Amino acid sequence: MAKYKIAMLPGDGVGNDVMEAAQLVLDKINLDAEYIHGDIGWEFWKTEGDPLPQRTIDLLNNCDASLFGAITSKPKDEAAAELVPELRDKGLVYFSPIVKMRQLFNLRTNFRPCKAYNGNPLNYKDGIDITVFRENTEGLYAGIEYHPVPEEVWKVLMDTHPKAKRFDSTPRVDMALSLRLFTRKGCQNILRDAFEYAKKNKCKSVTVVEKPNVLRETSGLMVREARKMQKEEYPEIELWEANIDAMTMWLIKNPMDYSVLVAGNMFGDIISDLCAQLVGGLGFASSGNIGDKLAVFEPTHGSAPKYAGQYKVNPIAMILCVKLMCEYLGENAHAQAIEKAVAEVIAEGKYRTYDMGGNSTTLEVGQAIADKL
Ligand code: IPM
Ligand code: MG
Repeated sequence: MAKYKIAMLPGDGVGNDVMEAAQLVLDKINLDAEYIHGDIGWEFWKTEGDPLPQRTIDLLNNCDASLFGAITSKPKDEAAAELVPELRDKGLVYFSPIVKMRQLFNLRTNFRPCKAYNGNPLNYKDGIDITVFRENTEGLYAGIEYHPVPEEVWKVLMDTHPKAKRFDSTPRVDMALSLRLFTRKGCQNILRDAFEYAKKNKCKSVTVVEKPNVLRETSGLMVREARKMQKEEYPEIELWEANIDAMTMWLIKNPMDYSVLVAGNMFGDIISDLCAQLVGGLGFASSGNIGDKLAVFEPTHGSAPKYAGQYKVNPIAMILCVKLMCEYLGENAHAQAIEKAVAEVIAEGKYRTYDMGGNSTTLEVGQAIADKL
């Protein structure tokens, strides 16, 4: 029996293209692993009304880790219109399978390293090395939303919060409500991961990116917990506090000042796209969704349907996911070797996909990286 069981979930669009490139690297390092394909994505929404079928959940329950490509998502009504006729009008509602996986398997930490590899023509500045820790299961992604707002929910708000009154004359069908729910435990978990990473990697600072001057309770909880944790447990690391809006400017102005960022779910989502762009765009941005029993590694990019099957897109983000997965599994020598191979291919500049100004295919870049291993 192989040492590891890995679920391979290519998903939609270019997810398939980049997963093939990742497989070239996996075959080369010859990890003692069994790779098992799992169904996920748009096709299964259309034909089964479920983009994350139960058989895939069962598979994930039996795996050590998973590599996930990309997913196509569409707004509710468009999604419903694409169901096969027999499934229409059954009240099925599309949901994002990656968001569901994060919650179902409590993949509470989203870890997103953004490193400017030398020689990447797309670097905003050379030397940038920022890692984003994004809380992954709560906040605005908790999924507790209403439209219209039920009368009983509104009544509770009216009874308990003086600020509700200002909206009372608005018909409930003309109100939408999304709950930003933070838990102390959720804040502590993501903060601890960020501080531990900073400690291990000898980073000078951790920056908590929130908005406590306005979101006094949710952002406030995160920042208060950050201060407490830094003071009691990580006095050697500086804690910097930045508001999400200002941070988008600071990261453009002084990207070299930052090394570890930590944020709630939505702000972490936003800031990680910005950080990805600083190091060449989504073609370079890998991420790990990490829980206690399972971790799912995915490139931050989407499924780019217009490029699907054309083997045009950059596989580096996906290949860096293989690196992150090796690290997670404790296969550090493989992780280092993969990163070195990626860095060399980028620096040499011989094989580049279109985003980097070249005309190599996805698989040519994947093969060039595999050849270095
Ligand atoms: C990400 C993506 C997802 C998110 C989408 C696809 C639901 O933007 O992983 O950052 O919002 O978390
Ligand atoms: Mg995102």
